[in-house]
Amino acid sequence: MSPGASPLGRVVVLGYGNQGEAHARNLRDGGEQVSVAARPGRTAERRALAHGFTVAAPAKALRNADTLAVLLPDEVVPEMWPELASAAGATRAFVFAHGFNLLYGSLAFPADAAVVLVSPTGPGRVIRELYERGEGVPAYLAVHQAGRADAWALAAHYATALGSARARLLRTTVREETEVDLFGEQAVLCGGMNALVSAAYGTLVREGYTPEIAYLECVHQLHFLAELLHARGVAGLRRGISGTALYGDLTRGPRVVNETSRAAMREMLAEIRSGAFAREWLAEVAAGKPELTRLLEQADADPIEAGRRRALGDENPA
Ligand SMILES: NC(=O)c1ccc[n+]([C@@H]2O[C@H](COP(=O)([O-])OP(=O)(O)OC[C@H]3O[C@@H](n4cnc5c(N)ncnc54)[C@H](OP(=O)(O)O)[C@@H]3O)[C@@H](O)[C@H]2O)c1
Repeated sequence: MSPGASPLGRVVVLGYGNQGEAHARNLRDGGEQVSVAARPGRTAERRALAHGFTVAAPAKALRNADTLAVLLPDEVVPEMWPELASAAGATRAFVFAHGFNLLYGSLAFPADAAVVLVSPTGPGRVIRELYERGEGVPAYLAVHQAGRADAWALAAHYATALGSARARLLRTTVREETEVDLFGEQAVLCGGMNALVSAAYGTLVREGYTPEIAYLECVHQLHFLAELLHARGVAGLRRGISGTALYGDLTRGPRVVNETSRAAMREMLAEIRSGAFAREWLAEVAAGKPELTRLLEQADADPIEAGRRRALGDENPA
């Protein structure tokens, strides 16, 4: 496809991190005309230059964007937006990879610009690796503002260039993507999983079991089960484990995740839906993240980290 024929025109990828690098490289390999906006003298700029991109500071790069992919950390966008939006005055399309700032951020866009969500369901490393193998990760598409373009077609074109049409494109809304994404990471993928392995490990070690064995059993092996879950689903996983494990799963699992846990999940979801979680997080960012820093220090001191070092040595330090 020639760049002139693409509905995206000149694409500027703002932020060359987890998502930005994969988006920029996949789109370029798909025939799009891509450049990168990054802060001078930092890692993102160095990496983008090493990958052969034309790189400029945001204030300059955004002036040349027909399509701007906003791939900065969500929490830095609201404060930077007035400056970014004025630099991107001629931009016809804005692409976001998560709806957080579209739902909560009060960002202003030119009325005739298309503002879309193309949210791949995986980290950038996987998006790039699968793309290079001729595969892709599924992506959610949503239209925040139609503008003058065919915004759905534009989002689908971007997602296809990213490689996601090789897997699946799912239409949704900004609200659904944002609320489900936040809930998933809080209840399962990050919050729930980390709290669960830490509690299980602590239970064993407090009862006198060997830390490295507790670690290998409650944390390290999760990888293999997660792979099975990914490949075969819950019912398939249950048919891939021993009878003893299956009996323990079905009779003891509901004791760990019980009505109290489900009530906590409903409460977390309500905080997401009311915007209370987003307000709390953005206030924490504005205050310089004191609570996040304190909680991370506390979490890093959890005995599970010592268990990991004992079980695995210092491979893959945090
Ligand atoms: N991570 C995921 O797996 C994932 C999955 C789906 C969607 N998303 C979404 O993708 C978007 C990007 O997330 P990400 O995880 O890719 O971000 P990221 O890797 O944390 O950061 C992207 C880049 O932003 C730059 N940056 C950080 N603070 C900045 C600032 N104040 N001003 C200018 N540049 C700054 C950093 O480069 P320098 O510090 O080197 O300048 C960094 O490389 C978000 O909307 C996120 O929700 C992420």
